[in-house]
Amino acid sequence: MTRYQVETGGKLYLTGEYAILIPGQRAIINYIPIKMTACIEPAPRISLTSDMFDYTVGMAPDKGYALVQSAIHTMAMFLQKKHCQLLPFRLTISGQLGEKGKKFGIGSSGSVVVLTLKALAAFYQLTLSDDLLFKLAAYTLLKNGDNGSMGDLACIICSDLIVYTSFDRQWLQEHIQVKSLEEILRLNWGYRIERLSPKLRTHFLVGWTQEPAISQHMVNQVRDQMTPTFLQASQLASDSCLAALQSANQTAFIKAITQLHQALQDLDPAIYHPALQRLVAIAQANGAVAKSSGSGGGDCGIAFAFDDDAAQAICKQWTEAGIQPLYQEKWGNL
Ligand code: PMV
Ligand code: MG
Repeated sequence: MTRYQVETGGKLYLTGEYAILIPGQRAIINYIPIKMTACIEPAPRISLTSDMFDYTVGMAPDKGYALVQSAIHTMAMFLQKKHCQLLPFRLTISGQLGEKGKKFGIGSSGSVVVLTLKALAAFYQLTLSDDLLFKLAAYTLLKNGDNGSMGDLACIICSDLIVYTSFDRQWLQEHIQVKSLEEILRLNWGYRIERLSPKLRTHFLVGWTQEPAISQHMVNQVRDQMTPTFLQASQLASDSCLAALQSANQTAFIKAITQLHQALQDLDPAIYHPALQRLVAIAQANGAVAKSSGSGGGDCGIAFAFDDDAAQAICKQWTEAGIQPLYQEKWGNL
């Protein structure tokens, strides 16, 4: 019997969170290779199981499995079939991008949609380009009322450090109301996704606060407080961060991350949960730069340390302060 296995990972924002909600803004987002896996095989009827839950479902609407079911509906629509006309399968998902029932906040909802679409593409032997996969995944999330920029999808699909330029989701929603999926996929949505290979020598460190936050709620609370000053500061700092990564300019990089940290701190007090304040303070005390990542309010923060000793000391002190070192990478042949 043919059985396919596919996987997806997570993501974290380096720059541009919140600002990226405005079409045309840019954000730098890094792939985090903590994985979710899906197995798909033929079965008498559609059956969906995830280790997030202790029950299996079919296609009768279920809150827990809503995104998985919705991705299946999108794929059925793409194949111009109803879900009951699809060759049936058993889909088993494992890896929750979290621990002990608490999510890390590295993009599990985006990841599960991409994972489901990839599993179905393998099962039906379709080769989907990154662009097509992005559009199908974004369409699925938008139909589920997601209020995000879709930067998570772009990064998870590329599995790389990327620069993402956002598109106008409002404009797309209006088209979704009146056009077929086929027509929607043919439109030029106006986003850009570019891969980035950093020359700057640095340790990229991720600390998990173990304080879950819900991005959708944070976005609803913070979105309307973005001023032109914030947007401009975020864009300038994001662009100089990009230039500094490419030209290995450590001074400029430190300045840019510090500005982004400050801009987020000024945007809304809910962003810097006390655990994120601790995370940043520990990094700074060891000569590193750090900031909250994504919507904040908990989840993860990131730090950049410029030598091995600092990186080690930060991870040790984070652990002592209840912040779990979740992941690290070395950049620029360090
Ligand atoms: O908290 P995260 O990692 O899901 O990131 C959210 C980033 C926002 O810009 C605040 C929202 C978005 O979808 O872009
Ligand atoms: Mg978050």
